[in-house]
Amino acid sequence: MKQLIAPSILAANFNNLGSEIQMINSSVADFIHCDVMDGVFVPNISFGIPVISKVNKIAEKPLDVHLMIINPDPYIKRFKEAGASIITVHQETCVHLNRTVQSIKNEGIKASVCLNPHTPVHTLEDIIEDIDMVLLMSVNPGFGGQKFIENTYSKVSVLKKMIDKRNPECLIEVDGGVNYETGKKLFEAGANVLVAGSFVFNSSNPAETIKRLRNL
Ligand code: DX5
Ligand code: ZN
Repeated sequence: MKQLIAPSILAANFNNLGSEIQMINSSVADFIHCDVMDGVFVPNISFGIPVISKVNKIAEKPLDVHLMIINPDPYIKRFKEAGASIITVHQETCVHLNRTVQSIKNEGIKASVCLNPHTPVHTLEDIIEDIDMVLLMSVNPGFGGQKFIENTYSKVSVLKKMIDKRNPECLIEVDGGVNYETGKKLFEAGANVLVAGSFVFNSSNPAETIKRLRNL
C-alpha cells in the first residue's frame, strides 16, 4: 500500500494562504488536510466553509476535510459543495454514525470516521465495512504542534488487523505530532496517510519535508 501525506493547513501562514496552497500543489502531497473546529467539541475555533471553498478554487490536490464539530449532519452537503473530496466525522460527535456516513457517501465523496486518542478501535466494528478511511488522532484534537501520543502505534496495529479482515480498501490516516521519527513507525505499523501540520510548515523547505515524509 502507498504512503500518502496530507499537509494540514492549520499550520500554514494565513496571511499568505494562496502561496501555501501553491506550495502544496507543487509538492508530492496527496491531499490537503483542512481542520474545521467549532469551539464546542474542541477548545479552539479554526475556519469553515468560506475558507475551504476559496482553498478549493486553487487547490490541485483533493481536500481532506476533518470536521471537529458537534452535529455535523446539517453541514455535509455544504462542505461537499465547498470542495471536500473526503469528509471525516468524529465517532464521538455522531449519535447516528451510520446515517452520517451514508449521507457523506450519498454526496458521492469518501466517508471517513475519526477516533480521539481515548476511543477504542473496537467501536468501529459495526461501521468499518461502510467507510473509506479511519482517522486516528495521535493528539487530543484542537491544536497543532502537540506531542505525539505513543499508544497510537498499537491502535494502528489493532485497526490494521480489523481492516485486513473486513475492508482491505479502507485507509488508515493518523493526525497529530507527525515527524520523521513518529511517521516512520506509523507507516511500519500499517498507517497509509499521515497528516502533518507544524512539522511541514515550520520547516525551512516544506515541499522537501513532504517528500521526505512520503518516502520514509
Ligand atoms: C489537530 C488537527 C491536526 C493538526 C496537526 O486537532 O486535527 O490536523 O493540524 O498538527 P501537527 O501536525 O502540528 O500536530
Ligand atoms: Zn486534522
